[in-house]
Amino acid sequence: MTRTPTELKAEILHLTREYSSLMHKANRPGNDPHRSPFTLGQTIPYAGRVFTEDEVEAAVGSTLDFWLTLGLEGEAFETELAALLGVKHSLLVNSGSSANLVALSTLTTHKLPAHKRLQPGDEVITVAAGFPTTVTPILQNGLVPVFIDNNPVTGNLRSEQLQSAFVSGKTKAVMIAHALGNPFDIGAVIEFCREHDLWLIEDNCDALGCTYSMPIARAHALGFKENSPGISADGTHVTRYTGAWGDISTQSFYPPHHLTMGEGGAVNIIHRPPLKTYAESFRDWGRDCWCASGKDNTCNKRFQWQLGELPEGYDHKYIYSHLGYNLKPLDPQAAIGRQQLKKLPAFIEARKQNWEHLRAGLADLDEFLDFSLPTHATHWTPKGFMWDDSGCRTDCSWFGFMIRVKPDAPFTHSQLGRHLDEHKIGNRMLFGGNLLRQPVFVQLRKDRPESFRVAVPLDGADTIMNTALFLGTYPGLTKAMMDYEIETINRFILGN
Ligand SMILES: Cc1ncc(COP(=O)(O)O)c(C=O)c1O
Repeated sequence: MTRTPTELKAEILHLTREYSSLMHKANRPGNDPHRSPFTLGQTIPYAGRVFTEDEVEAAVGSTLDFWLTLGLEGEAFETELAALLGVKHSLLVNSGSSANLVALSTLTTHKLPAHKRLQPGDEVITVAAGFPTTVTPILQNGLVPVFIDNNPVTGNLRSEQLQSAFVSGKTKAVMIAHALGNPFDIGAVIEFCREHDLWLIEDNCDALGCTYSMPIARAHALGFKENSPGISADGTHVTRYTGAWGDISTQSFYPPHHLTMGEGGAVNIIHRPPLKTYAESFRDWGRDCWCASGKDNTCNKRFQWQLGELPEGYDHKYIYSHLGYNLKPLDPQAAIGRQQLKKLPAFIEARKQNWEHLRAGLADLDEFLDFSLPTHATHWTPKGFMWDDSGCRTDCSWFGFMIRVKPDAPFTHSQLGRHLDEHKIGNRMLFGGNLLRQPVFVQLRKDRPESFRVAVPLDGADTIMNTALFLGTYPGLTKAMMDYEIETINRFILGN
C-alpha cells in the first residue's frame, strides 16, 4: 500500500520524537523527570542547549518541507518575539553579532534626517568590559567608540560617567549590553539619551526575559505610558522587558543564551517602524525592495521606480540603497526557536532559581568572594534583595552567576577557574574582560589611535578582568549539579 506524503511525514515525525526522547535525555530541563540524572565525574557545562523532542520534531518537519531560507516559520517567530517583548518588529538574523552589526548599520542610513544619521567620525558611547561584538560594529562602520567603565558589582556601565564621555555635536548614540542577564540602569541611561537626543541601542543578547521597573511619574516623564504594548503597571511602577526601552535592541540565540536555534539572533525595532525597512535592507544585501523571500512586487510598482542613476522602471528587486550584507538564518532554525519561545517563561524562572540556589549555597564565602548584585540592589538576603532609594527595580533573567575573588584571598580567579575545570565544572571569565587590553585593541591603538577614545580610567573593567568568573545558571542544571558545584567551591576555599 502506498502511503501519502502526509502519512509519511506524520510517521517520520512520530519516529523523530521517539528517537529524540531516547537520545537527548541529558538536554532536557533540569527539573524534567525524564532528564538523565547527574553522576559524579560527568562534566557540568556552564551552559548549553536545553530542548525536548518538540524542537527536534520542529527542525525535522521544517527540513522535510525544504523551504530552507527564511520563510513562514521565520515570519511567525518574528511576530511572536515582537509580541512577547512588546516591540514594533523583530527581525531574525544569523547571530547576535550580526544583530549588533545590523542594528548599528541601520542608524547610518541616508534615509534618516541628517542630524540623526550616524556618520563616520561620530562617537558612540559604550563600556570597556564585555563581549567584543557589542563594540566592533561601531568601528566597522567608521564610528568612534568612546569607552566608559564598568561597575564590577553589576558588570554594567557606571551610568554617572556618561556625561564625561559626551561631546556636543559628536556623540550620537549609546550602545551597551545588559551584562550577564542584569539590566543596566535604564532610567539613568534613557534620561541621558533624551537630554542629548541620542540613539539607544540595547544589546539584550544575554538578557532575554529581564525586566526593569521605574516609578510611574518618572516613566511618564520619559514618555512610557502604562497602556502601551509591552508595558505593565501595578499602580506605583511601570515595568517592561529589557530590549524594549531604547530605540533598537538585539538578541542572540547561540546555545548558551536564553533560547536557542543553534546560531541565530534578532534585531528588535522598538518604536520607530521605518527603522525596520532600513534594518531589513542591511540584513538583505542592501536592497531597496522589501519583498519577503519567494515573493515579488509587494510594493505594487516593481517596474515603476527610478532611484539613483538607474533607468526608470529598473527592477526594484535589484536596486540597492545601502552597503548591505546577507545575514539571514534558515527557516528550520526559526522552527526550533518557536518551540523554544513556548518554554521561555519556564527557562527564565529556572535561571532565577538556579542563581538563588548558588547564592545561598556560597553565602558563607563572603570573606573570600564578592557576589554580583542586580542593578539598584544594595544587598542580598535569603529572603530577597534590598534596594536603593531610586525607586527603580530590576528582575534578572540571569545568564550567569558572577563572583569576584577578593584581592586578599589566598587564591586568584584563574586558580579557582582551573580547579573547577579539573573538577569538570564549566566556568567562564566575563568574556573579553577590559577589551582595550585585547590584542586587537592594542594593535588598533598602534595603527589608528584616533579610531577610539577612552573617556575615564577603566579600573572597574580591569577589576572584572583580574578577579571575576562566572558559573552557569542555564535551565539544564539539576539541583545535584549545583550542589556539587557548591561543595567543590566550598572545599577549595575552606579546605574541608
Ligand atoms: C553581550 C553579547 N552581545 C553579543 C553577543 C554575540 O552573540 P553571537 O554569539 O550570537 O554572535 C554575545 C555572545 O555571547 C554577547 O554576550
